[in-house]
Amino acid sequence: MANVSCQSFGKTKEGQEVDLWTLCAGDYSIQVLTYGGILRSFCVPAAEGSRDIVLGCETLGEYEAQDRYFGALIGRVANRIGGACFDLNGKHYPLAANNGPNCLHGGLRGFDRAVWEAREEDGSLVLTLHSPDGEEGFPGTLEVQVTYSLTEDGTLTLDYQARSDQDTLCNLTNHSYFNLLGHAHGSLGDQKIQILADAITEMDENSTPTGTILPVEGTPFDLREPVEIGKGLAMDHIQLKMGNGYDHNFVLHHQPKGPMKLAARATGGGLCLECWTTQPGIQFYTANFLEGDAGKGGACYGFRSAYCLETQIWPDAIHHSNFPSVVLRGGENYHHTTTYRVTAL
Ligand code: GLA
Repeated sequence: MANVSCQSFGKTKEGQEVDLWTLCAGDYSIQVLTYGGILRSFCVPAAEGSRDIVLGCETLGEYEAQDRYFGALIGRVANRIGGACFDLNGKHYPLAANNGPNCLHGGLRGFDRAVWEAREEDGSLVLTLHSPDGEEGFPGTLEVQVTYSLTEDGTLTLDYQARSDQDTLCNLTNHSYFNLLGHAHGSLGDQKIQILADAITEMDENSTPTGTILPVEGTPFDLREPVEIGKGLAMDHIQLKMGNGYDHNFVLHHQPKGPMKLAARATGGGLCLECWTTQPGIQFYTANFLEGDAGKGGACYGFRSAYCLETQIWPDAIHHSNFPSVVLRGGENYHHTTTYRVTAL
């Protein structure tokens, strides 16, 4: 069980109090902000002692000013909704187009910008959020609960639950940027990635899925055996060009929920990071929009200097009947679990 403590992290520009929670378990520790439920640090034992392997900002003001989603909880709907609108039960719902023609990561003010309620429960950190009916255009009042737990064997678990009083859409994730060489390392070096998926969802020039499920065989997306990320990125493929790198949903299951499954394994700097999930997809994103962003402790986060492993229901699922459903029925429970486990290689 982790040792849990809490301190103030200042106030948002609107004057809301934000706390920084710390969970320590053996040689591992995490910090989580009530602002955006952001995973601000993940310190793991490494050759030099302790190494922080997730990117983040130094101050609350910097978190508020950026749009990279560093470490944040994402909702109500992670990833893209094509055309920034959808129909549900015969009603049309327009949303904010904040990413070309798409609605990305919940809209203009997603869960990544909300101040969550927090409490300790049995050595875990429980974050809760009340999302009112109509927020960012989505129907139904949604009650969300995300629990962060950390154990001495280096397993960070995120357990996501939600319930709505009306039919709505729900797809929650975490947007941590990892670099196993350390958050401030500045490049991916020779880190390797393995993603246990036979297919990706093909996307168009707006990063919206076309509906085609593309087998990875013979493409840079064949990561079923470990591949050096830099070598994969250097390959020639139209999908990589359109994403400006890896920014794709890998298919883990065809159902909205599955048994806990190893989705991805990254290695580098003497460490191994495994991502397990019950979600049907994982967005592998190689930080193609970072461009020397200011980070924690004076770090500078350059182009492709980290990667995200965003477990999710497939992007734009509401517009594709062959994708796992993203509809959460009124009164039903939304629940999924993702773990990130870091061990010495
Ligand atoms: C997700 C998207 C990317 C990008 C980042 C945020 O990972 O798939 O295209 O928008 O979020 O920078």
